[in-house]
Amino acid sequence: MRIATLAGALERAVGRIEGDKRIDGIADKVTPILHRALPSGPVKDVASGTPLGHPLHPALVAVPIGSWIAAAYLDIAGGRGMWRAAQRLVGFGALSALPAATTGISDWLDTTDAERRVGAVHASLNTTALSLYGVSWLARRRGHHTIGVAVSFLGAGLTGAAGWLGGHLAYARGVGVDTTVFEEFPSKFTDAAPLADLADGALAGVAVDGEPVLLAEEDGSVRALADRCTHRGGPLHEGERVDGCVVCPWHQSRFRLRDGSVVRGPAVRPQPVLETRTQDGRVQVCRAR
Ligand code: FES
Repeated sequence: MRIATLAGALERAVGRIEGDKRIDGIADKVTPILHRALPSGPVKDVASGTPLGHPLHPALVAVPIGSWIAAAYLDIAGGRGMWRAAQRLVGFGALSALPAATTGISDWLDTTDAERRVGAVHASLNTTALSLYGVSWLARRRGHHTIGVAVSFLGAGLTGAAGWLGGHLAYARGVGVDTTVFEEFPSKFTDAAPLADLADGALAGVAVDGEPVLLAEEDGSVRALADRCTHRGGPLHEGERVDGCVVCPWHQSRFRLRDGSVVRGPAVRPQPVLETRTQDGRVQVCRAR
């Protein structure tokens, strides 16, 4: 099969998942349970990766995948003397999959529509793979080595398919990516809005050179941040002001108006900050130097 043909077939397959609204019914049932298990707050922020400044899920999935690949290598090339080591790796991989899954759930709870459907299938494949690795570990422990190996190779196939979908979510759908990364703010001071629009603590959303910018007045200074939330792109000017921060209306991440830093997740990346000045009653902005 030629590369273009394979890529096209995979694209059509994932397109069917993205458009399959039957998945929404199952996801709708599971979501409230998971929201109760992992409510917004410090634990979910850690699971999202907020303290690290990058999503945690891609880092943690390396542990089970690495363990299972090492086990497969020992199964293929290690011989009988490596059976016990392979069993331990299968077991360690299964245990380490649990925190990885928690971080994945945290990310999935903040998705909608097509991303949510693909994420649901990604999670289902991984859950089935994890169960197979659990069965493999038990079979190996009871001395049924050949069965254990066969089952773990089935698990490896599902993990590979799930990994492809995870890659699609990150690289094709931008889940976990800073949504402001390609924004081009003006390099010279450019007119943004009348200063009067920022009266009474208002949050103003304006377009400057086609890029969405959030303006707010604070302690006599005008603050300007990228208006598109770095998390999933929520419009910050539709959020609220709380304690010197703007709260995103979509998943309630908080960003300090003064410097764009993340005060509360699930966002992991700070909001880009713009420089401001006021001339003749109008606010001008330019990208921070
Ligand atoms: S889009 Fe998720 S917190 Fe802003």
